[in-house]
Amino acid sequence: MSTTINADTSISDVSPAIANAAANVAALPEADPCTVVIFGASGDLAKRKLLPALFNLACAGSLQCKRNQFTILGIGRTPMSDEAFRDAMHEFMLTAKDVADFTEEGWKEFANRIHYMVGDPNDNGSHEELANQLEALANEKGASRNCLFYLSTPPSATAAIIKGLGSAGLNEETDGWRRVIIEKPFGRDLTSARELNAVVGSVFQEHQTYRIDHYLGKETVQNILVFRFGNSLFEPIWNRNYIDHVEITAAEVLGIENRAGYYEESGALRDMVANHLLQLVTLTAMEPPVAFDADSVREEKVQVLRSMRPMTPDEIKQRTVRAQYSNGEKKSEQLASYLEEKGVKSDSKTETYAAVKFMIDNWRWGGVPFYVRTGKRLASHITEIRVHMKRTPQALFSGDEHDIAPNVIIMQIQPDEGISVNFVAKRPGTEMHASTVQMNFRYAQGFGTRSPAAYETLLLDAMQGDATLFTRADEVEYAWRLITPIEEAWASDSFPLAHYAANSAGPAESNSMLAREGHEWHDLEK
Ligand code: BG6
Repeated sequence: MSTTINADTSISDVSPAIANAAANVAALPEADPCTVVIFGASGDLAKRKLLPALFNLACAGSLQCKRNQFTILGIGRTPMSDEAFRDAMHEFMLTAKDVADFTEEGWKEFANRIHYMVGDPNDNGSHEELANQLEALANEKGASRNCLFYLSTPPSATAAIIKGLGSAGLNEETDGWRRVIIEKPFGRDLTSARELNAVVGSVFQEHQTYRIDHYLGKETVQNILVFRFGNSLFEPIWNRNYIDHVEITAAEVLGIENRAGYYEESGALRDMVANHLLQLVTLTAMEPPVAFDADSVREEKVQVLRSMRPMTPDEIKQRTVRAQYSNGEKKSEQLASYLEEKGVKSDSKTETYAAVKFMIDNWRWGGVPFYVRTGKRLASHITEIRVHMKRTPQALFSGDEHDIAPNVIIMQIQPDEGISVNFVAKRPGTEMHASTVQMNFRYAQGFGTRSPAAYETLLLDAMQGDATLFTRADEVEYAWRLITPIEEAWASDSFPLAHYAANSAGPAESNSMLAREGHEWHDLEK
């Protein structure tokens, strides 16, 4: 059943029946019974994202805790008892910002489901021990034999863990399903992604493999597809005849936090563009799938990537900008430059900002630029897609040129999730003056309910065997096929590295790249 919720209408303004239906929107289904094995259990991701997500799912009644059919087995290098691991996790839960409603009572029930073992990904003995431990949990505690292996470990450990799971027979689905979730980055270029796919494919079948990109778990990212294919209003104009260009931004205020080790090896292009931003491009550009299932949706996304040509070295010079933040100021606080961050090499050329113009050579998008940019330490935290429509063919109200900008559809992914449409309206008064106004739909007011966090959605999907929101083997390879030539060009010392002040809108070179084509980025300092 569908309900209608007005844009700009708070949930308290709508009828009780609608309010109830809307409040249920976030109700979550029940997962299959399973044991979640987390490699890297005491790492940052496990503490900040995975455990909070599983705890929220347990509190929402989505995991089979009450029937003893849900178990977590954490694996880490540090020796610890189950109790010590639970205590450490309890500490984090108290302050974790992704925990929806922490209660000691809820935690107690959840903590009972958590176990821990010491293990080293490079030691085959560890995987044998894991198999024994899973058997013991099943026999002694009634734990489910369905197993979801979560590799929350550095990329360098992925192949060894996958091979180890294979040699311990933990890939075989004789007495339950076996699935593996692999964190990004999946490889660091086309060659390594292919090699990793080959290793994974020699142990797990594709239907058992879940390559995670947490952007796909974000409610508003999924909403791109609903917006496009659930409404007949937008799809007819969603093409090169009506759309002038598309602008995708993922701007962060935060710096690299304590992740210099990872970030120095990665940089903004690998960290954000190769995965999250290309996902936003494919969802914005893909053809309607024949059905909303894993094969059909992923097939259409891959077709978009296949339609994008890897750039030549000359095109890379024209169509990309890499930059690094220098020091800046926020109110009266001094912000350090990237080179001054702990763990960063004093002569590092790692980019903290990347801007790329992608072109999609197909009938729908030929000639329409997709500009994407991402950066750390920018003036605002915003992730959004701006679809700029073409100008009207005739400037009827040309007296007011600056006020009658072309229509823009804005899909805001964070913060303040929602969709806005900029259009032109007559200004009140006796004269025929026009101004741009905005029509807004905001998730928070529209539905008045908490959206599940990205990791909750994705973990639940994996437990239910739904891979629609995970990346397919060929999809990551097609993405690297576009990114690797850029990485190679950027690796050269002669490729310019621009700079921007921390807490600014980014480098001037990025503005110039768009200005050359008569376009401009949405101003992050506004
Ligand atoms: C991660 C990147 O994948 O995404 C981080 O490694 C980045 O560098 C983060 O900060 C951004 O995610 P979100 O959900 O905060 O937009």
